[in-house]
Amino acid sequence: MKLFIRKKEGELKDMKIIVAKDYEEMSKKAADFVAAQIILKPDSVLGLPTGSTPVGMYRELVKRYQAGDIDFSNVVTFNLDEYCGLDAENPQSYHYFMMENLFAHINVPKQNIHIPSGSALDIQKECDQYEQKIKDAGGIDLQVLGIGRNGHIGFNEPATYFEAKTHMGQLDEDTIRANARFFNSIEEVPKKAISMGIRAIMQARKILLLANGEEKAEAIYKTVQGAIVPQVPASILQLHPDVVIILDEKAADKLSL
Ligand code: GLP
Repeated sequence: MKLFIRKKEGELKDMKIIVAKDYEEMSKKAADFVAAQIILKPDSVLGLPTGSTPVGMYRELVKRYQAGDIDFSNVVTFNLDEYCGLDAENPQSYHYFMMENLFAHINVPKQNIHIPSGSALDIQKECDQYEQKIKDAGGIDLQVLGIGRNGHIGFNEPATYFEAKTHMGQLDEDTIRANARFFNSIEEVPKKAISMGIRAIMQARKILLLANGEEKAEAIYKTVQGAIVPQVPASILQLHPDVVIILDEKAADKLSL
């Protein structure tokens, strides 16, 4: 495992980049990071992602909870996103994913868990309330992120501007193709989702971005070394003062470190 500090010019803060040898090592390092956050601040507000990338990290966190190393009883969580039109019992929903991969196995109180509802009748109201709940909780202490092949974070897809608030957005064609692997057919992939906006993500006190595999190498390159543009939503992380990126070697392949 290697640590690189990417020096930024002028006002931009340095980015810390950890390159792990493989997915296992990336997941353990990420779990170390989240565990340290909870140990240092037991009532931490965590922003959490879904997708294949964080599965290993969640597995590690469950192990550490079972070993008595971390206690989630005062932790508050906000998930990044949810598909529209899928209710919490749908196995393809992010509610279901979070239950299966983390919440059912740890002691975080049910009332401390927040995930946008994709089946809300009034989506705008759902988005506004989600935004307010994040504020009421005092903002996010640690935001964990995955990244899409097109550079999306949460479901903030490439666009002509950065969408600040929690909102409903259209999924990008590439995202629909990438996520079709979780569904029986591509037609079943919802075309819309609710996503935490860029503002709540950027207001998180710390950000931990994870990526593995060669299909993420281009997005990581653009995020770290490219221009800060809404066509690559993750590139805005260059402006955040405290970002740690943990990659496996394949996802780091295009970086000049
Ligand atoms: C999904 C989620 C993102 C996630 C990304 C990558 O569509 N909305 O939050 O980070 O795509 O997913 P994966 O980790 O499966 O590659």
